[in-house]
Amino acid sequence: MLSAEALVKRFGRRIAVDGVSLALQRGEVLGFLGPNGAGKTTTMRMIAGCLEPDSGRVRVAGTDMAADRRAAQALIGYLPEGAPAYPAMTPRGFTAFCLRARGYSGARLKAAAELALARANLGAEADQTIATLSKGYRRRAALAAAIAHDPPLLVLDEPTDGLDPNQKDGVRALIREMAADKAIIVSTHILEEVPAVCTRAIVIARGRVLADAAPAELAAQARSGRLEDAFRQLTAEEAA
Ligand SMILES: Nc1ncnc2c1ncn2[C@@H]1O[C@H](COP(=O)(O)OP(=O)(O)O)[C@@H](O)[C@H]1O
Ligand SMILES: [Mg+2]
Repeated sequence: MLSAEALVKRFGRRIAVDGVSLALQRGEVLGFLGPNGAGKTTTMRMIAGCLEPDSGRVRVAGTDMAADRRAAQALIGYLPEGAPAYPAMTPRGFTAFCLRARGYSGARLKAAAELALARANLGAEADQTIATLSKGYRRRAALAAAIAHDPPLLVLDEPTDGLDPNQKDGVRALIREMAADKAIIVSTHILEEVPAVCTRAIVIARGRVLADAAPAELAAQARSGRLEDAFRQLTAEEAA
């Protein structure tokens, strides 16, 4: 569903992403794990077609992002970092707005919006102004808009960041529900998040992939504490 090959992005003299490759299939939830500043957001922006790589290639279900961005982006649901949404709109209005931008109208738009709002568990809050919603519901509103066109690939940048434990659980449950028939990549800087939602994980630091672990391996590494040790060291180095 997704193939990223040797992605590189520089900002001035700083290399934010330094040759990241990854592949993702339907049914997988890939954890994209790394300390702050590791290059997660920059990689996800390139995967979503919002930022052009200096070199490297992104393909979504075989469609090349650089050659046919519109077709590739139609297959992606992207939740940017911080889950931005227009605060003056309601979740229903924002979801409809995003669907219209994708060419939906009439009954098809209405049906897709209803399904997305239900999937994101927005009840009466679907008609409340986004500015007045709690953080958890604001996140759900952005998620509803991201999944409304029922894309087979979801790119979620720190979807649970800043939420309280209950809200985190809600968003994780939603990701697990959607996982069966989609390919999902979820970034996080919190190690504990990975076993809660992911079937596989990639660890990234300083723009490079350090580890790509299968579920069993990852569980073993997590149990032995090796992953925690490596991660703590990286986080400390980044902070230094
Ligand atoms: N638009 C930008 N201009 C300059 N530097 C940037 C920009 N975006 C990200 N960076 C830098 O690239 C590095 C990776 O950032 P980012 O991809 O946001 O990491 P993460 O999401 O893992 O925290 C950081 O050093 C960050 O400061
Ligand atoms: Mg980030």
